[in-house]
Amino acid sequence: MPVTEDVFKDVMGNVPAAVTVVTALDEAGTPVGLTVSAFSVVSLRPPLALVCIDKGSQTLPGVRDGGRFTVNFLADGAEELAIRFASKSPDKFDGVPTRPAPVPGCGPILTGDACGYALCDVVRTVEAGDHWIFVGQVLDAALWRERRPLMYCRRTFSAWHAPEGDGLGSRPAQASGRALGLMMTIEL
Ligand SMILES: Cc1cc2nc3c(=O)[nH]c(=O)nc-3n(C[C@H](O)[C@H](O)[C@H](O)COP(=O)(O)O)c2cc1C
Repeated sequence: MPVTEDVFKDVMGNVPAAVTVVTALDEAGTPVGLTVSAFSVVSLRPPLALVCIDKGSQTLPGVRDGGRFTVNFLADGAEELAIRFASKSPDKFDGVPTRPAPVPGCGPILTGDACGYALCDVVRTVEAGDHWIFVGQVLDAALWRERRPLMYCRRTFSAWHAPEGDGLGSRPAQASGRALGLMMTIEL
């Protein structure tokens, strides 16, 4: 017997997730997009990542039929944009700074609100419950190192903060395990 919906939502809503806006182009070449937290890295060789999109999404046909999508990893401060792209508004891109992806068929890059992006070519589509999973080969990716990622957990947006430093500066990065009184050095 499966877990109840309430318990499922409660437990899964307690898992911190990156906030992304997945963009694509519809059949007329018009940008479409939605807020997605169901993103995961899948593989390094080849570089694969996945997103899960609700079957009722208006953006879904653009991703499915175009076969390409852009994952915009939102930056701290982009909470309102996340909410806008979680709506059904036909004007989601109005006034939003964007530039076309350098890879044909991928959706726009949100230059003012993202801290990074990944341009993906769909290599596998899997039906899973009320969502479709799109596994994409990452053709190109980049980040704005000075911007901090936006996170979502317990129905709340917050900025990601490393306990010490930001993990993106000098190498090797240092992270402290304060709760355990430990100091770990991670060789990148
Ligand atoms: C923080 C957050 C995370 C979300 N994550 C997802 C997700 O992973 N997949 C999904 O299909 N919808 C997700 N949504 C809901 C969609 O953004 C929402 O249904 C949106 O209206 C879909 O827009 P569209 O129909 O124009 O594509 C999320 C919403 C929020 C606020």
